[in-house]
Amino acid sequence: MDTVLSGIRPTGNLHLGNYYGAVRSFVKMQYEYNCLFFIADWHSLTTHPTPENIQNSARTILAEYLACGLDPEKATIYVQSDVPETLELYLYFNMNTYLGELGRVTTFKEKARQQPDNVNAGLFTYPTLMAADILQHRAKYVPVGKDQEQNMEIARKCARRFNNIYKTELFPEPQNYYFGAEALKVPGLDGTGKMGKSDGNCIYLCDEEKVVRKKVMRAVTDNGPQALNSEKPEVIENLFKMMSIVSDAETVKYFDEKWNDCTLRYGDMKKQLAEDMVKVLNPIRERIQEFSANTELLDKIARQGAERARESASATLKEVRKIIGFRI
Ligand code: TRP
Repeated sequence: MDTVLSGIRPTGNLHLGNYYGAVRSFVKMQYEYNCLFFIADWHSLTTHPTPENIQNSARTILAEYLACGLDPEKATIYVQSDVPETLELYLYFNMNTYLGELGRVTTFKEKARQQPDNVNAGLFTYPTLMAADILQHRAKYVPVGKDQEQNMEIARKCARRFNNIYKTELFPEPQNYYFGAEALKVPGLDGTGKMGKSDGNCIYLCDEEKVVRKKVMRAVTDNGPQALNSEKPEVIENLFKMMSIVSDAETVKYFDEKWNDCTLRYGDMKKQLAEDMVKVLNPIRERIQEFSANTELLDKIARQGAERARESASATLKEVRKIIGFRI
């Protein structure tokens, strides 16, 4: 069974975009692959050296993952900092990765611009830590967004280079995993493309029902249809797109016809949209609250995940040490 590894930095709460774009697919994948889902808390230190409560940030993601249906019996769910083996591999990869390569990474250049007083070595070597995350499990697939392509390229380079230098075939070259059609791009509420982490634009999985309704009612629209059967402008297209994700086909058709004959009132449509969204979100939010209240259970799940992740990583590290020539 092929191994899939996914990582997320613990920087807040999951939103509907995360859910329909990835997490819902993870739930399926855990039955088809050897899946590892981890929370990259070390990586968050590259930009936030003094986190408020890093354990709680990890627990938040963990609770939300579990609420969405990730099953700790099926998948290995763990926190990066619970697996010290990663760091040894990170060190070896740092020996074979060149300043020029790391310096060309756009995400590094962007962050360096954003935090000119803290252009630290961890930020610079973010990609080699990521390579260690992946290759310690010899993962074949990594689901990542476009912004991670350069990091993935470096992970492949680390694998290739290690194999070449030590004349081994230990590491597979990890590939970007593309979700099938079931992964959906959720538009933002402010009418600008994708749902992302900003308050006017996104609905969090943990948002209370009335917050969800309020946010939907405030979604950006326009003056309404001006001519029969006209093309929809992007903001309205987005509203329909969102409805097609959470509502049934009949409902979408009903409002689409209203658009076409110019009788659509956005208020009515948004009310319906909010209603259907709340139906999706209520059970998830309730589960988030249950899991969040049970830190003992969360910590137990994280410990169990770490145990399995360490087993997988130490098997790789044992090979690596042997190959380089260290005592094992
Ligand atoms: N860099 C990833 C992001 O920002 C997070 C991450 C860290 C990651 N290590 C990883 C993702 C390993 C996949 C595999 O989204």
